[in-house]
Amino acid sequence: MVLRNVAMRALLLLAVVSVAYAAKGKEKEESADGPAASGLGGEYDITKLGAKPDGTTDCTEAVEEAWASACGSTGNPTIIIPKGDFLTGALNFTGPCKGDGLTIKLEGNLLASNDLAKFKSNWIEIMRVKKLSITGKGNIDGQGKAVWTKNSCQKNYNCKILPNSLVLDFCDDALIEGISIINSKFFHMNIFQCKGVTVKDVKVTAPGDSPNTDGIHMGDSSNVSIIDTTIGVGDDCISMGPGTTKVNISGVTCGPGHGISIGSLGRYKDEKDVTDITVKNCVLKGSSNGLRIK
Ligand SMILES: *[C@@H]1O[C@H](CO)[C@@H](O)[C@H](O)[C@H]1NC(C)=O
Ligand SMILES: *[C@@H]1O[C@H](CO)[C@@H](O)[C@H](O)[C@H]1NC(C)=O
Ligand SMILES: *[C@@H]1O[C@H](CO)[C@@H](O)[C@H](O)[C@H]1NC(C)=O
Repeated sequence: MVLRNVAMRALLLLAVVSVAYAAKGKEKEESADGPAASGLGGEYDITKLGAKPDGTTDCTEAVEEAWASACGSTGNPTIIIPKGDFLTGALNFTGPCKGDGLTIKLEGNLLASNDLAKFKSNWIEIMRVKKLSITGKGNIDGQGKAVWTKNSCQKNYNCKILPNSLVLDFCDDALIEGISIINSKFFHMNIFQCKGVTVKDVKVTAPGDSPNTDGIHMGDSSNVSIIDTTIGVGDDCISMGPGTTKVNISGVTCGPGHGISIGSLGRYKDEKDVTDITVKNCVLKGSSNGLRIK
């Protein structure tokens, strides 16, 4: 299905279902101090902190150390992930950070471990960080192929959820540009309670038959732009859950995948509306749906 110059604006009023609202329960208190090291915003190259670009050595510690130092720095610190393959387990990038912004320059590839014991819920989880940029030509590679068979969500509603790859929670003014996010174990990107997120020139790809590998899901967020981005995955290319408003999807190519979706809605009591969604200059090709509200 090809869709050009079609602007869709959706304003939804929701049916109320009598199930308790369980929006992730993520509002736990964080200390205002942030991580340990502090200094002037500089460059933190993970290979100088012990990361090995061989794709088999677990580099979690080096990357976490780079995060702690960068997040504790004033100014505009940059974490550098140079060319090479860096294997990691769960990465916990929690703010608030001390600087005016923080950049992750991804020139190489981050690979997710296939040892599921290394994950609680997500792979790369970025929380409460303002003005975060992730730029470069590298890949965020979930290496999902090895674990997709462990996904039982098609058969079992209370299935164990595999790790999402790139998760932004409570992050305002984020930019994700140039990178590729591939073969996620579960969702490629999840945006929750963020204001002002731009995803630009990004490629999101996984096989059309990989389970629950949604491209970009967002909920409870506003002012999200997805621009000039190619998404081919095994589930929704883009989906917008309750509380999403002011979204601009433009120049996106979707397929394979289940299309661009508003929803799923109506699952919880007192869900917030989805409003002010614009989809323009997009191509949906080889996707099982075009645009839908579900
Ligand atoms: C992530 O890091 C923050 C701050 O360092 C800490 O408070 C939190 O407990 C960590 N979360 C996990 C899941 O390890
Ligand atoms: C929307 O977010 C962008 C950053 O992605 C920011 O520059 C812009 O000021 C925001 N606009 C509004 C109206 O909040
Ligand atoms: C959406 O983004 C495109 C590309 O940057 C821009 O041309 C357009 O004006 C934006 N539309 C809205 C409604 O913000």
